[in-house]
Amino acid sequence: MRIGLTGIRKPRMRVPGLGFVGEIVAVGEEITDWKIGDQVYGFSETGGAYAKYLCVPSDILAKKPKNLTFQEAAAVPGGSTPALIAFRDLATPKEGDKVLIIGASGGIGTFAVQMAKNVYGAEVTGVCGPTNMDMVKSIGADFVIDYAKEDYTKGEIKYDIIFDTIGASNLSKCKNILTETGVFVSNNPVTNPRSLFHMITGIKRLKSGTADESATAMEQIRQWIEEGKIVPVIDTVYPLSKVSEAHRHYETGHAKGRIVIGIE
Ligand SMILES: NC(=O)c1ccc[n+]([C@@H]2O[C@H](COP(=O)([O-])OP(=O)(O)OC[C@H]3O[C@@H](n4cnc5c(N)ncnc54)[C@H](OP(=O)(O)O)[C@@H]3O)[C@@H](O)[C@H]2O)c1
Repeated sequence: MRIGLTGIRKPRMRVPGLGFVGEIVAVGEEITDWKIGDQVYGFSETGGAYAKYLCVPSDILAKKPKNLTFQEAAAVPGGSTPALIAFRDLATPKEGDKVLIIGASGGIGTFAVQMAKNVYGAEVTGVCGPTNMDMVKSIGADFVIDYAKEDYTKGEIKYDIIFDTIGASNLSKCKNILTETGVFVSNNPVTNPRSLFHMITGIKRLKSGTADESATAMEQIRQWIEEGKIVPVIDTVYPLSKVSEAHRHYETGHAKGRIVIGIE
């Protein structure tokens, strides 16, 4: 699967980097909706964002959130959209619903906590490690569970929605902490064979979807950011010259929010 995505004989993307932010320096003759100087962000499915200049189709561009710096805005594409899909498309929380977010301190989890709380008005419980509990509370979680100390699957509380951002759990393990109509949303069923099996066999209480990184999705997120409902959490900004260090950091699986590559 991974080889299929990244290339069999050589890397599929000559220049990696998916999420981007920047200022338009040139536009094609037929482009009327964007002009030189516009500040934009988005997600380039064909890569190329680890570079000073990036050439993309105009229909993937969205306006950069006005209240963010370039580095802050660079933290948004990629991490925010799996949370958008989880709550907009797969299991939409109603006001007051109990939502459990597994991996609440990570790149996706930090957006998911804020979206569930500030956009949908849910009561949010985040699951993360001991060093990130304060941060997860500070971004809006009502309750935080330290996965190293407590097995959240054995708790008394029942959740309407469980969003597993990292593929750490599955529906079978969590069925006792879901309400009767509760839904388990898996961001990453591929890393969890049981979730993958449930998805393939069409179990209704398990939901998983493909990413929507479109300009429409990025526009929606821009709006929530400008309304103050979502703020990107940034762990570290690495210069492009330290990109391999940035990747090694991400691969620890313990980033506190997002890791950003700053292009000088
Ligand atoms: N980031 C993206 O743009 C993106 C987009 C699409 C898909 N994905 C995929 O989605 C998955 C999650 O991505 P991510 O960027 O959010 O990952 P991440 O930034 O590495 O975050 C992982 C988080 O999970 C927490 N964690 C680790 N073990 C845990 C456990 N057993 N129980 C509960 N929490 C645990 C960690 O918290 P502590 O540090 O507190 O232990 C960490 O904050 C990855 O598989 C990734 O490939 C990512």
